[in-house]
Amino acid sequence: MPLFDTHTHLFDGRFRKDLSEVIARAQAAGLECVVCLGIDRESSLESARIAQSYPLVVAAVGIQPNSAAEAKAGDWDEIVRLAESEPRVAAIGETGLDRYWDKTPFALQEDYFARHIELARRLGKPFVIHCREAEADVVKVLRQEFEKHGRIRAVMHSFSGDLATAQACLEMGLYISFAGMVTYPTAQNLRDVAKEVPLDRLLVETDCPYLAPQAVRGKRNEPAFVSHTAALLAAVKGVPITTLEESTTHNARKLFGV
Ligand code: NI
Repeated sequence: MPLFDTHTHLFDGRFRKDLSEVIARAQAAGLECVVCLGIDRESSLESARIAQSYPLVVAAVGIQPNSAAEAKAGDWDEIVRLAESEPRVAAIGETGLDRYWDKTPFALQEDYFARHIELARRLGKPFVIHCREAEADVVKVLRQEFEKHGRIRAVMHSFSGDLATAQACLEMGLYISFAGMVTYPTAQNLRDVAKEVPLDRLLVETDCPYLAPQAVRGKRNEPAFVSHTAALLAAVKGVPITTLEESTTHNARKLFGV
């Protein structure tokens, strides 16, 4: 049962005391890889450190749209340095656009999103997209990129958009990743979208420590719990759990190059 958690924040204070046990449980649950993503300079440095300490983990570095307003002079340069020089940095992000939280002026979010995309393209690395209530804006940016540079190597993380958004992203080459939210009783709309995502473009993630799947809802989320989301998606797609686990792991390996 191979599993690959494509989105975690293991630098979070909630993992400070027992990270090695969290990693051991992930391994015991069949995980082959976990991506730890920074949201700003400090957490990107920490993600790279965690990836150096644990062979199971690879890092992504970036400044998340909600953190962009607080970025100081030199923070972006540090992200670029990490992306260029740290062998354990597999991806750029998380990046994207967010109209739900009003933390960063939208034009500044767009500026940072463009920088991440350009950096990913220049280094030949994938990028990880956070999109909250900004689907049309994200698709617009991706279309411009797609028209200029072709197929896009990226993932829509913790997907929460509609089917039209998913299809637009799939057409441009992106992967669609579902987090624990898709297991919640009220999220039938997300399950309807997941049903339509081809098996070869589907990914799973925990987004831990947030969004624990229904079976463990209320607990601190951790990579081992990605199995609950994988099982739910197998049921939605009408395929055996092993098929779902093998294809999502294969897809993630391909996207992240690990
Ligand atoms: Ni995240």
